[in-house]
Amino acid sequence: MFKKTKPLVIANWKMNPETEQEAKNIVLEIKEGIKNIKKISTVICPPVIFMDSIKKTLSKSIYLGAQDAFVGSGSSHTGEISLEMIKKTGAKYILVGHSERRETEDTEEEIREKVSGVLKSDLKAVLCIGENERSEHGDYYHEVKIQIISALTGLQKKYTKNLIIAYEPVWAIGNKENKALNSENLYEMAIFIKKTLNDLFGQEVAKNIPILYGGSVNKNNAKELLENGKVNGLLVGRESLKGQNFVEMIKKIAV
Ligand code: PGA
Repeated sequence: MFKKTKPLVIANWKMNPETEQEAKNIVLEIKEGIKNIKKISTVICPPVIFMDSIKKTLSKSIYLGAQDAFVGSGSSHTGEISLEMIKKTGAKYILVGHSERRETEDTEEEIREKVSGVLKSDLKAVLCIGENERSEHGDYYHEVKIQIISALTGLQKKYTKNLIIAYEPVWAIGNKENKALNSENLYEMAIFIKKTLNDLFGQEVAKNIPILYGGSVNKNNAKELLENGKVNGLLVGRESLKGQNFVEMIKKIAV
């Protein structure tokens, strides 16, 4: 059911850092720190205004990603950045439906359109899903299932080869105590997500869709989450802005 793949680690910088110089410094630190590591695929999703200079700083083995993209047609959309523009920056990965966007911006319908638009443009769509809270009754399974079905219904199988699921329990994102989900519960959820994908697309397709975990991932819990949670990678927020910690994390999981 779970295909072993080269672990994928995606850094989600959100609205950080404050300056272009700081952004470049973090990238340089990461680039230097992981230059000999071939076993991990690393992606950095900076704010759009830093993408161009970061692209120039990146090495070939670190990919560029975007945190969102506008997929509608026409150009009269104040404040938006189109998929075509994002594509021109060299970004290969696009986060879709991050919980912070679901909260204020993206509706389920928009998320469905974004996933489909990104995949049809031959870019990798990282669909973010995750429950708001974990109650004793296990309602979170249902919540996650609805999010998957809503985002992927109608998507033709041929477009799924660039689809990635990032499971991020909302309560674990930016958690003040840096509390992630435990790896046992992660494994259970990963199986459930695979089962839901199976029902939608069949086993052949489902087994090739990578599942990432996100939410308070740090250099101390990353390896355990990846190995015992049996996921294909990690989506990292705060820890990815601390260059040295991020490097340490990558080194630990590469062993
Ligand atoms: P965090 O954020 O690692 O800071 O919890 C993760 C995310 O929002 O993707």
